[in-house]
Amino acid sequence: MAEGLKQGMFITFEGIDGAGKSSHIERTAEMLRAAGREVVRTREPGGTELAELLRGQVLTRSMDSLTETLLIFAARRDHLVQLIMPALERGAVVLCDRFTDSTFAYQGYGRHFDLGVLNRLEQWVQEGTEPDLTLWFDLPPAEAAARLVPARKPDRFESEPCMFFEAVAQGYRIRMQENPHRFVRIDATESMSVVGLQVQAALRSKGVLV
Ligand code: TYD
Repeated sequence: MAEGLKQGMFITFEGIDGAGKSSHIERTAEMLRAAGREVVRTREPGGTELAELLRGQVLTRSMDSLTETLLIFAARRDHLVQLIMPALERGAVVLCDRFTDSTFAYQGYGRHFDLGVLNRLEQWVQEGTEPDLTLWFDLPPAEAAARLVPARKPDRFESEPCMFFEAVAQGYRIRMQENPHRFVRIDATESMSVVGLQVQAALRSKGVLV
């Protein structure tokens, strides 16, 4: 790569609902911008006009798990083609709130959807693109449930019982074992500032922050 050109970096934030990733995505964006990087902050399902429309349906309508999975991957394809790939090609840092590890954790391990089909969809839709770094905010499901804002109306996933989130958390654990090259576990039981330090250390380990 020519000197002066910055390499694009695709960073995903994962964890069960209530694990506290949102505030750390915001802080990470501020830190990287202050360091002079172009930052694209986005989320899944969503991130483009079409993908946000699909998100609205997936989070509110009941549907069978194949339909749910196909809509999530359709949204992902649009997101990758329209937003993520062009940003990475420009040299931006893409910070994405959830990505395919969520699909394995929620649809695969949470809903027991066929993992072989998920693997195939991942290959078709992503054509080799995967995150450079995945920060997994690990928090016991009972603690995460207690942290979720009680006033907010839960979406289709948030209203699932604790057992569902135990399965989702186990899904993340397995994904980390299968993808050790890009996964970093963040101990989300710690205070906000200690979690922030863990995030910074992970960013340094990938050279995105000096
Ligand atoms: P999130 O953006 O974390 O919700 P919120 O707006 O409440 O912070 O994620 C929305 C929900 O979608 C979350 O409960 C997990 C679920 N989800 C899946 O089930 N599969 C997926 O592939 C993705 C990306 C999200």
